[in-house]
Amino acid sequence: MNHATDNYRGREQSYIKHTFLIRYLKEAAFKIFQRRSRVFNFVDAFAGPWNVADESDYSDTSFDQALRTLDEVKSHLQLIGRGDLHIRFCLCEKRRDAARLLRQYAKERRNFEIHVFQGKFENHLSPIASACSDGFTFTLIDPTGWDIDSGPIFDFLRDRNGEFMLNFMAEHVNRHAGYDAVQASFGRFLASSEWRQDFLRLPDELNNEQKVLRLLRRKIKSVEAASFTPHFQILKPNQERVKMRLLLGTNSGHGVEVFRNVQSQIEREETKLRSQMDEGRLGGNLFPIDEIAQDKQDISGMGSAKFRNKARNQIIEILSKRKSVNFSNLAINIMEEVSMRKTHINKLLKNMKNEGSIEYELPSQKRVPQPDTVIYLPKK
Ligand SMILES: C[S@@+](CC[C@H](N)C(=O)[O-])C[C@H]1O[C@@H](n2cnc3c(N)ncnc32)[C@H](O)[C@@H]1O
Repeated sequence: MNHATDNYRGREQSYIKHTFLIRYLKEAAFKIFQRRSRVFNFVDAFAGPWNVADESDYSDTSFDQALRTLDEVKSHLQLIGRGDLHIRFCLCEKRRDAARLLRQYAKERRNFEIHVFQGKFENHLSPIASACSDGFTFTLIDPTGWDIDSGPIFDFLRDRNGEFMLNFMAEHVNRHAGYDAVQASFGRFLASSEWRQDFLRLPDELNNEQKVLRLLRRKIKSVEAASFTPHFQILKPNQERVKMRLLLGTNSGHGVEVFRNVQSQIEREETKLRSQMDEGRLGGNLFPIDEIAQDKQDISGMGSAKFRNKARNQIIEILSKRKSVNFSNLAINIMEEVSMRKTHINKLLKNMKNEGSIEYELPSQKRVPQPDTVIYLPKK
């Protein structure tokens, strides 16, 4: 453990969740402020505070970390001459006591525009939409389980100019999705009264949470809340079991690329953290921790053989259906589904070309495919 993680003892998954969130937010905010909008709204839909260690400053909460991160981005851009930027926060929390703490938090930060809503997020969608009527809106949906009415929330997300991050509580979902007693609540979560039939039709090799996730992603796309939904898993501390999955909902290919770049950094960080925890338990580690993290990533993490094989099969499948596709579309489709960065895809395509399983021509003096490079299967 180090100073940054001191507040997260026993809930290291929250450290990973927050670190991922703020790194992604930072990248998104720089891009939005520089290219698309001078207003950035952050909606913390299930804000807490929940299980915090730092009860005076809330430095281990999503809302405080988002506020400090976005303020930093804004200050940095202002220093280099990009003035007139505005950040707006909407914090929503069901529990009355917690919402009171949020109001106090907002009161102590009067130089920020912070709106606090007490009650279910589902019941405040319209005032939150009015508060965020202009600019780009990033919504964080971080529930404690699956008890959410997704239908109206997806409509809210579809109508925003923005992106969202959803914390999919894989462990809880996995444990409960098979029981009859939860039929109705899963129906609300998946915004479908027929979810059970669809669930039973999915391949047996998927476990409960993987099936529910698949239905949820399908729904998000069919109601047009997002075109792309990349996700990645966060493990339980000290166990090789999935605790939660962070899912990004975006209409931007660039968003998918940034998601995978951030995932790559976080994956190494998670390995380091877990290795430090083992070190504490087992007494000392013989190898430098950065090397361990890199080795583990090479063996089983992003861009490893397992993901390269999955990507290879998908590339062949896409090209068999569509004859040819440009690099930009192909790369986004692969990155959405597989834990690969663009550099991994470039390498894979080069290998596939060398083996003769795909073809493409590079413009002179270019070593990797360009966005409009056409990729196709060899003619027989
Ligand atoms: C996992 S905690 C949020 C943690 C916070 N995002 C963080 O990372 O610091 C989930 C919070 O959502 C609240 N909650 C549960 N159902 C809700 C709903 N329908 N609308 C708004 N808040 C809800 C819970 O009371 C709890 O405080």
